[in-house]
Amino acid sequence: MLDDAPTATPDEAAGATRKRGLYIKTYGCQMNVYDSARMSDVLAPLGFQPVSRPDQADMVILNTCHIREKAAEKVFSELGRLRDQRDESGRHDQIIAVGGCVAQAEGEEILRRAPYVSMVFGPQTYHTLPEMLARIERDTGQSILNTDFPAESKFDSLPEEFASQGPSAFLSVQEGCDKFCTFCVVPYTRGAEFSRPVATILEEARRMVAGGVREITLLGQNVNALHAEGPDGREWGLGRLCRALAEIDGLERLRYTTSHPRDMDDDLIAAHRDVPALMPFLHLPVQSGSDRLLQAMNRKHTSDDYRRIVDKLRTARPDLALSSDFIVGFPGETDSDFAQTLRLVNDVGYAQAYSFKYSPRPGTPAAGLGDPVPHDVADDRLQSLQQLLNAQQQSFNDRCIGATMPVLFERPGRHPGQKIGRSPFMQSVHAQCPDRLQGRVADVLITRARPNSLGGDIVTGVQAAGIRVDDADTHAPRRTSPEG
Ligand code: 5AD
Ligand code: SF4
Repeated sequence: MLDDAPTATPDEAAGATRKRGLYIKTYGCQMNVYDSARMSDVLAPLGFQPVSRPDQADMVILNTCHIREKAAEKVFSELGRLRDQRDESGRHDQIIAVGGCVAQAEGEEILRRAPYVSMVFGPQTYHTLPEMLARIERDTGQSILNTDFPAESKFDSLPEEFASQGPSAFLSVQEGCDKFCTFCVVPYTRGAEFSRPVATILEEARRMVAGGVREITLLGQNVNALHAEGPDGREWGLGRLCRALAEIDGLERLRYTTSHPRDMDDDLIAAHRDVPALMPFLHLPVQSGSDRLLQAMNRKHTSDDYRRIVDKLRTARPDLALSSDFIVGFPGETDSDFAQTLRLVNDVGYAQAYSFKYSPRPGTPAAGLGDPVPHDVADDRLQSLQQLLNAQQQSFNDRCIGATMPVLFERPGRHPGQKIGRSPFMQSVHAQCPDRLQGRVADVLITRARPNSLGGDIVTGVQAAGIRVDDADTHAPRRTSPEG
């Protein structure tokens, strides 16, 4: 594109920006989803518009995840595919870029293994994409590696404008992690904990709501460790921030993720009691039920500390549903350690959870520990844990049958007249639904439960979250299956 760029059209000659295709593939956590959306916003003024396939793009960005080995390896296979596709389609001018945590951790390795990559940048430098792009256009053939942790936060330079994200959107409020769990790369790839100032968070939230957002999920690697500078000059925690955000007119729902048990302070717990907009669903990773392993993981809490926090949360908000992350096969994990994890799962009862086989990450303290758990043992444990968690999820979903719950409708389903929304507890809900409820909250009577979704019917003739749903609106064709 750079050497043999087409000659300027009359529009371009008159100063209009040339339209170019941008394809971003996002791996990993919601933080990366947020970052990808912001990369798009940074590039939009340069004429980049999202396209749905990499072969249509002038620029492809892989926004990568380094959390487990498999996630990082996927990047190298995807790069090989992209190069082949680029060569086959004759798009030799296509820019291939790698951002995110693999870029941060293995930038030089990427340029060595994939020299056709033009740009490698970390999670803290994507606001400089226009400058990086200009440098590439100037020095064709030169690759750029930009994995600094700049003193100036990227948030100070990101554009105010952002593309519509739909009724439910992410807002990054905190980044980085100072916890140093011994298995985790995040403190190295994302850097030290940093909280955005309250004023800029509130401003961004107000703009989002004005743009049609009804639900905001506050994001941070350690979001409840938030220590944000308040407009009153005091330090604000997450509880106080939630109370202030809930005051925004038109913002109906608030969520936050991901949290650490140690940062679940009393004010935040009280916010779950006091702030109706704060949804009754919390992802609170515990990783293991064994105190010996929790110590080896440097989690700085015991399994009973976790139980006590859950009790307090459930006292504050009795309908709170919980989710967690678990690691099995951490070095030295015995049958008895694993049995304690199962016991904790049984004690707490999860609505949903993620579980992973331990994956040693270069540079982390746990990678140097001996006593690895044999793969087949770890596989068996993962399977038993997932069986238990799946059963809990199904039973939680089953218990929702007969309940009427407010659902935020986010997108069309596969069947005519069907829409998919989210329950307060993060379940996908399928229902026949009039178009004007798209992006709104309406009450749904749950009639069906699947492992990963619910199905139900809009409650008619009642005042549901301020929206009157008339019988006439629900004459859309009936669904054939709850999944849509
Ligand atoms: N191996 C396996 N799982 C990991 N996680 C983080 N690092 C590792 C690792 N080295 C899991 C943790 C964390 C989630 C995001 O990923 O459970 O909470
Ligand atoms: Fe990783 Fe632990 Fe920090 Fe979570 S709290 S990001 S698991 S180091």
